[in-house]
Amino acid sequence: MTLEQYLANTLPGVTDIKDVSRAFAPSNIALCKYWGKRQEEFNLPVNSSLSISLGNLGTETSLECSNTDILILNGEELDSSDPFSTRLFNYIDLFRPPSIKLKIETSNTIPTAAGLASSASGFAAVIKALSDLFSWDLSDQRLSEYARIGSGSACRSIYHGFVLWEKGEKHDGSDSFAHLINNSWTDLRLAILDVCSDKKAISSRDAMNRTASSSPYFTQWSDIAQSDLALLLNAIEEKDLHLLMKTAESNAMAMHASMMAAQPTILYFLAESVEMMHKVWACRSSGLSVYFTMDAGPNLKLLYHKDDEAEVLKQFPDAISVNPFVT
Ligand code: PMV
Repeated sequence: MTLEQYLANTLPGVTDIKDVSRAFAPSNIALCKYWGKRQEEFNLPVNSSLSISLGNLGTETSLECSNTDILILNGEELDSSDPFSTRLFNYIDLFRPPSIKLKIETSNTIPTAAGLASSASGFAAVIKALSDLFSWDLSDQRLSEYARIGSGSACRSIYHGFVLWEKGEKHDGSDSFAHLINNSWTDLRLAILDVCSDKKAISSRDAMNRTASSSPYFTQWSDIAQSDLALLLNAIEEKDLHLLMKTAESNAMAMHASMMAAQPTILYFLAESVEMMHKVWACRSSGLSVYFTMDAGPNLKLLYHKDDEAEVLKQFPDAISVNPFVT
């Protein structure tokens, strides 16, 4: 089945269009990473993944019917040839009747300095806003499924708290969506260490495809992801923060190791990233329980208990702290 056929079978019709709609979706950081697709068009993953959403840091999007398509990102109008604009409107075209043109205003509430302006919250916010504009009132499960088509990790940004994306087995992705695991265990805090916010040399999409097709460690990666996920779910169940943070750090390193073995190699670490890792490990040796995770980029995200916030920020004065449970 093609994506177009799948959407034709599942999308409600457009009968009632509002003048304007608005939605917010949080960014999310994976504690067990999504890395590698089993199917490209539907963004279906090889492994299930688990994330924490970033509370009130994410993307706010408003949609308004208009005579022509316009995209305003963080207050600036983008040219229609801009790659982000093309990607976003190609996605929206999957869901809207061709006669509907839209003025889209989208802005990130995450500080630009955090280098975290992610596509995940962007696609999650836009599908929520489309559902509202067309009065579809889609379930969270359906929103998650549709957000996944824009960007895999976007399916987790539909929810706040700890979120699990089940990889599913089906070819049409109808069993590959995220759901909330827990939003009441609130000990975890994060801080973003912005090592460098330049555009990355290789996109996560290309990097995960290269890893899957050429890294001899890719099979091991998906086995590790499966066992790490079980540990993380257990850590959430048992409220074991140490197990959660430790597993998240080793999961990130296993993902990066699988990339380093790809041909040609993929290395997102900069010298400063490695320097910060050593600093985290030195803090741990002297008794401060701080861990890190890293995505497809050079920045570290620190993980720690809320009671250690003052000490962590003393050790890492440039870090931007995030309370993932404030919405
Ligand atoms: O959803 P994408 O295509 O931006 O890929 C996300 C990949 C990682 O951020 C590295 C891992 C994850 O699970 O978010």
